Amino acid sequence: MNVYFGAIETRDDPTVLGTEPIPARYYYDPEWYELERKAIFMRSWLNVGHVCELPEPGSFIRREIEFAGASLLITRGKDGTIHALHNVCTHRGTQLTEEESGKATKFSCRYHMWTFGTDGALLSAPDFDRFYTDKKACALKQVKVDVCGGLIFVAFEPQQGLREFLGSMAETLEQLPVARATTFHEYVYEIDANWKLDYDNFQENYHLRFIHSRSAGAGCGPDNPFGYPSHFTLNGRHRTQTIWTDPNAKVQPTMLEAYMRGAPRLAADGILNDPNSREYFALFPNLFLFGSPGSHFLHTVFPLGAEKSRGVIRLYWIGEDETASVRYAREFALAQIRDIHSEDVAVVQAGQRGVSSGALEHLHFQEKEILCRHLVKVCEEAVEAYQVETGE
Ligand code: FES
Ligand SMILES: [Fe+2]
Repeated sequence: MNVYFGAIETRDDPTVLGTEPIPARYYYDPEWYELERKAIFMRSWLNVGHVCELPEPGSFIRREIEFAGASLLITRGKDGTIHALHNVCTHRGTQLTEEESGKATKFSCRYHMWTFGTDGALLSAPDFDRFYTDKKACALKQVKVDVCGGLIFVAFEPQQGLREFLGSMAETLEQLPVARATTFHEYVYEIDANWKLDYDNFQENYHLRFIHSRSAGAGCGPDNPFGYPSHFTLNGRHRTQTIWTDPNAKVQPTMLEAYMRGAPRLAADGILNDPNSREYFALFPNLFLFGSPGSHFLHTVFPLGAEKSRGVIRLYWIGEDETASVRYAREFALAQIRDIHSEDVAVVQAGQRGVSSGALEHLHFQEKEILCRHLVKVCEEAVEAYQVETGE
């Protein structure tokens, strides 16, 4: 299969990606994980933050990227340019800062006081004349960084630019409210599960009525007992689905109240009327964005190993909360996401223990789990391309 096809509406043919079962080892085998790490994660553009975290020259954030063994400083330089620098002093390797974020005009290494600018240039180094190198050669090492729709992406060994990587999704991202976000709420979790198993849990609604009967019951209804999405689109390596909601669903009074308190702001920002507000966008490999009328959230899943991952869930927001009611609406939206997610964690980890036991050779995806199948297909394809290229 060639993943570089244009957008495919799967209502035309739900078997477009085949129907065969999926090798279970993709979800626990360390050798397969190592191939995915090199072929996918090292080569892809990955979302690590948002421009609202770097409001002015000198603002920086630190990101630990475990699969690459890297600590990165994402900085906004004097001229406003964003840089992604290895948090590694070029003298003898000491990490420059342990701060998670902040503002700095320069970074000084505490060991021998080499000092670097926010663009990574070596500004000064004590008694530098005694070295056998020049300052230019000692700038901090950089990785590629670019921005789309307000989101900051980095790539260690990119095979193409960010826009080409995102394809038509780049334009979509720029039109979403997240592009204008000024702040966010975040929660980070670690889970004993392969990154795909964790990510897939958000790519199918088949489990909704069983695992989320209490919290997300409104997602199912007599016309659609499993709450399946209205349709799916496969878009190169990326994919989207349109979430279905029961027009007759009874919304809990608290939820309704919270939405109404948040609604004036959301409506003013066009979120309520945004045709994308029921869209789920899955960007290869590990990010998805989901817009509902009440909230707009992003989720990234970073692998920490074959059977361990870290997820970052963010609810982005535009403007400050002028009133306690608006603040309440925002807190409510995040609490709701956390509630639903807390119902998923145990079952995802149980899934990991099961597949890791080696009892199964294969897993099965039905037609409404096509986004999960698509993720497997594009991963297989990336690994194959990597193997052909490197002979590994
Ligand atoms: S290791 Fe950083 S100045 Fe020596
Ligand atoms: Fe779930």
